[in-house]
Amino acid sequence: MRNAEIVGWGKALPPSVLSNDDLTKIVDTSDEWITARTGMKERRISHVEGSDLAVVAASRALAAAGMEPAEVGMIVNATCTPETLVPASAAHTQYKLGALNAGAMDLNANCSGFVYGIITASGLIASGMVDNVLLVGVEKLSYVTDYTDRTTCVLFGDGAGAVVLRATDEPIGVLAGEVGNDGSAAEHLCVPGFGSVGTAGPRPASLLGIQMNGQEVFRRAVTKMGEAAVHVVRKAGWSLEDIDLLIPHQANLRIIDATARRLKVPEEKVFVNVHRYGNTSAATIPVALTEALEEGRIRPGADLVLAAFGGGLSWAAAAVKWGERVKPLGSSAVELPPFEGTVMDLVQPSVDFFSKEMV
Ligand SMILES: CC(C)(COP(=O)(O)OP(=O)(O)OC[C@H]1O[C@@H](n2cnc3c(N)ncnc32)[C@H](O)[C@@H]1OP(=O)(O)O)[C@@H](O)C(=O)NCCC(=O)NCCS
Repeated sequence: MRNAEIVGWGKALPPSVLSNDDLTKIVDTSDEWITARTGMKERRISHVEGSDLAVVAASRALAAAGMEPAEVGMIVNATCTPETLVPASAAHTQYKLGALNAGAMDLNANCSGFVYGIITASGLIASGMVDNVLLVGVEKLSYVTDYTDRTTCVLFGDGAGAVVLRATDEPIGVLAGEVGNDGSAAEHLCVPGFGSVGTAGPRPASLLGIQMNGQEVFRRAVTKMGEAAVHVVRKAGWSLEDIDLLIPHQANLRIIDATARRLKVPEEKVFVNVHRYGNTSAATIPVALTEALEEGRIRPGADLVLAAFGGGLSWAAAAVKWGERVKPLGSSAVELPPFEGTVMDLVQPSVDFFSKEMV
């Protein structure tokens, strides 16, 4: 059986930090409320395009794998905030990276996108279609975040994480995966006016920002993400005690805690960085995976569970058996360009935009 091993990993977080205190200057909120309800303390706002974030994360992942861009067979960008619809955002990544022999496509399953992506990429490799896949989770959610709406704007941030998956005959990689979606509940988390909906023309600005029924999403997330995680553990032939590290989508600390309780996974076996970056949708899991490796929390042969939920309403989980190597083979000199302005310079255009009634 041809499997897909994760042989490279990397992340790119923009330097501008939007703290809870910064948010109190924009909407009626407080550090206490945000911390108690979400566990978040700060998030990053990008001064560059998503493909610039993707290229830095991808360059680091390729260096970690000891690979050149020209060796990549397929680039999959898991994103719900592509910088253009035509071409797909992966086309920008491919060009800027110089991965000229790679196919390039986007995959949109919202916050579940990276887990959908790792399952898809493993399938592409297992089929023999390609020998490797560069999978990037990248989001510029600040573009669709309505910074006049306190119920959503405290939650989201920008960032990118990437992995390189390569064919192997060893029994490692994604041993089991599960994906699901309930389109009847899509209205609970959506950007209703962005896309080919209706006819071209002016529309309410609010329809171009994230709209969410937080409690409904919360309830469904805990149930569906937890169920999917239990299923993949069983399908992989593991028991819950075998889980060495749970890497859940970072949307809310309370959701992460509830999922861990459901899986009976103790706190020290759950990776959390939601306090640093907020919810970066498809980027949360590859960023968390990269940080878990950097912090030495993944040992050779570890049994990992990745689990996510998001718009759709979608959910996904994967049981991943890690290989032998937990250290990068090399490092990349590629960096994001510096930003001289303040984080408010980046957020204010959105406040102005969403303050208008029609656009
Ligand atoms: C959004 C979320 C943090 C809200 O927490 P909650 O405990 O459900 O809070 P509620 O929505 O019940 O709101 C409680 C009160 O806080 C208020 N509130 C909402 N946002 C606030 C904010 N940023 N600051 C201060 N108060 C706020 C509400 O208006 C409400 O006030 P009221 O009681 O006077 O009506 C939580 O529901 C959540 O995380 N849901 C999942 C969202 C998610 O993960 N989305 C992405 C999926 S990938």
